[in-house]
Amino acid sequence: RLGKSLVVAVDGPSGSGKSSVSKAVAQRLGLAFLDTGAMYRSVAWHCINAQINLEDAVAVEAAARTIKMEQSMVPETEFFKVNGVNVTDAIREPKISAAVSSVATTLGARAELVRRQQALIADHGHRIVVEGRDITTVVAPLAEARLILTASEEARLRRRGLQLGGTQTAEQLAEQVLERDAKDATVVDFQRAADGVYTVDSSDLDFEETINAVIAVVRRAVNAG
Ligand code: DC
Repeated sequence: RLGKSLVVAVDGPSGSGKSSVSKAVAQRLGLAFLDTGAMYRSVAWHCINAQINLEDAVAVEAAARTIKMEQSMVPETEFFKVNGVNVTDAIREPKISAAVSSVATTLGARAELVRRQQALIADHGHRIVVEGRDITTVVAPLAEARLILTASEEARLRRRGLQLGGTQTAEQLAEQVLERDAKDATVVDFQRAADGVYTVDSSDLDFEETINAVIAVVRRAVNAG
C-alpha cells in the first residue's frame, strides 16, 4: 500500500481541536502533516514585521507571493520559518491572531497560499493530513477523506481558554474566537459540510476519542471511495 494516495482534508472553526487532533491522526497513520493556518499566520507575521499595511490587499498578496516559507511536515516536530527566521512561537501570539483575518480575507493572498499548499501536498506524494478552513472545498476537494471537525461554541471557548493558559477573560476569549470565525466565514465556509464531507462533533469527546472518531471516518471514506 506504500505510495498509495491518502490525503486527509480537515476543516473546522477555531477551538475545535483541529490542529492537535489532525497532528495525532497523521502520526498514527504515518502521514505527513500540514497546518495551513500557520501559513496565514506567517504572512501576517511578515507584514507586521516589515510594516506592510494589512489592509493593503495588493501589498499583502505581494508578501504572500514573495516570502520564503519553510515548515516541518512531520507531525512529531513543529517549526515555521519566514525568510529564514524561526517564527514557530511568534505566529501564536495574540497580536498575530488578531491580525491574521486580514490575510485570510485577502483573496489574492488566499490564491497564492492555496497554490503553495497544493504543491506541498504533491511534494509529499499525496500522503498527508492537511488542516485549515478551505481544505475540503478548495485546496484538496479530491482528497480520499474529507471531514469537518466541529464542536459547540461552549466547548470551543473552553478549549481555547485552556490552550492560552487561562490568561484571558471569558469576554476576551469570545471576542477572539467568535469574531475571528465570523470574519473568516465571510470568505470560506468551514461550518457546513460540502457534499461527501463527513462531520465529527467533538463537543462530548475527549482527545483520544476524537482521534479515534476521525480515524474511523478516514477508514469509512476510503472504503466508500
Ligand atoms: O487555524 P488558525 O487559527 O491557525 O488559522 C489562522 C487564520 O487563518 C484564521 O483566521 C483562519 C485562516 N485560515 C484560512 O482562512 N484558511 C485556511 N486554510 C487556514 C486558516
